[in-house]
Amino acid sequence: MSRRPRITVFGTGYLGTAHATCLASLGFRVLGVDIAAGRIAALEAGRLPFYEPGLEPLLRKGLRSGRLGFTTSYPSAAEFGDVHFICVGTPQRPGAPGADLSQFEACFAGLAPLLRRPCLVVGKSTVPPGTAAGYAQRLPVIAPAGAGAELAWNPEFLREGHAVADTLRPDRIVAGVWSDRAEATLRMVYAEPIAAGVPFLATDPATAELVKAAANAFLATKISFINAMAEVCEVTGADVLSLAVALGRDPRIGDAGLRPGLGFGGGCLPKDLRALAAGAAELGAGQALSFLHEIDAINGRRRTRLVDLAREAAGGRLEGRRVGVLGLAFKPGSDDIRDSPALEVAARIRAQGARVAAFDPAAMDLARRVHPDLDYAGSVLGAARDADVLLLLTEWPEFSTADPEVLAKTVARRTVVDARHALDAAVWRACGWDYRAPGRPGTARARGISDDLGTGDSGTPDREDDGITGTGDAELSQAAVACLAAAS
Ligand code: UGA
Repeated sequence: MSRRPRITVFGTGYLGTAHATCLASLGFRVLGVDIAAGRIAALEAGRLPFYEPGLEPLLRKGLRSGRLGFTTSYPSAAEFGDVHFICVGTPQRPGAPGADLSQFEACFAGLAPLLRRPCLVVGKSTVPPGTAAGYAQRLPVIAPAGAGAELAWNPEFLREGHAVADTLRPDRIVAGVWSDRAEATLRMVYAEPIAAGVPFLATDPATAELVKAAANAFLATKISFINAMAEVCEVTGADVLSLAVALGRDPRIGDAGLRPGLGFGGGCLPKDLRALAAGAAELGAGQALSFLHEIDAINGRRRTRLVDLAREAAGGRLEGRRVGVLGLAFKPGSDDIRDSPALEVAARIRAQGARVAAFDPAAMDLARRVHPDLDYAGSVLGAARDADVLLLLTEWPEFSTADPEVLAKTVARRTVVDARHALDAAVWRACGWDYRAPGRPGTARARGISDDLGTGDSGTPDREDDGITGTGDAELSQAAVACLAAAS
């Protein structure tokens, strides 16, 4: 293919919309395709149907440039595109651990019979091992173009909240290809990031699809490892934050993704972990990945532990208590509540008879639809009003900077459970709060250390100091200084 390929992107969720929009920003002509007419209408009007910082301006720019369009018509897309990316969802099967590939299957079965000229179909969705090979065999049989229609696999590693940066400048591009022609086409699509130094790793498709599933399983394992250590810390009196900082200083371990707390959630890590284990088991390699069940179990225990901590902090029972909840999204920078640890904890506490008043900067509308049983406050102060216990469940930056002195005047009891280690324990304690956090003893020594475990999601820059000795008093907030002065 000598001219720039024209591109279609099937599926306009986080992945597909970010991919289509970013490729248009690189100068390609791109058509986004979805069966959901409402979603396509919103995108055509320049509105993102979900929260993703920085993506909407780029979407509008793409639409204005005339390079980016959207359609519900498969025939138009098949006619238009030289490269067809399939980015549809692969959620967990209801009631089973495996992946539900019905959207992928429907997209493939709808598109393949319409492919009349040479083209590349590129799987981007996260799938269980062995998926690519099956579709590669079927494609030339179903497509009128025959062997001219080829399959490749090109997994995506973008994080919600960082979709634009992760798409334009990923850590690596993995291209699973069966032919030089497919590799050359993908090199053309990614010419700009490759020129900017992003590594392009050409593999066979079976490896490419596994890289994605294995990467998410590894990230989940790292998170559950440090959370398992938090459980050990609670019986030995050790401090999981100091432990994580000290472990992360070993370059072979690294501190990214080593934040202990409430565990992982969202639409990717939990279901990908289960789909990989289930897929490997179906292929006869179940024993190799049996440890992933334990990773999942550790993650589930975090939520139970947090409910227990909240109950203890409320004086041994939740019934009749008022609980203020800060955070409902599965992580900061996102409105996604799929398998959100925060929302599950809030709902479980409500189910045990507490009145829950919750606030989240982005996820309130979605949460309200699923959990109308919770009360929704308009601000941090609103959630804290008259609370017997305040819970921080998602580490939005505005929660970390909330003034404990002001909040102290709003709550009924100064008790806070910091599930994400986002607050400065010493500052809150100095303001008279009973501060509790999973995996941490009641010491002021480790204060500020959570800042050191930068994942890039909290908006907190990585720090230069060693963290273990804590921050200097010069860095304490004014409120804390006032509280500390009053306390002494
Ligand atoms: C994850 C992967 O990070 C992406 O590389 C991948 O492309 C994406 O899934 C996907 O498969 O599409 P994402 O779900 O956006 O991205 O979220 P992460 O930023 O990885 O966080 C996942 C969960 O782990 C969140 O609930 C977060 O709070 C939690 N987490 C993360 C921790 O508890 N500790 C950490 O140190 C890091």
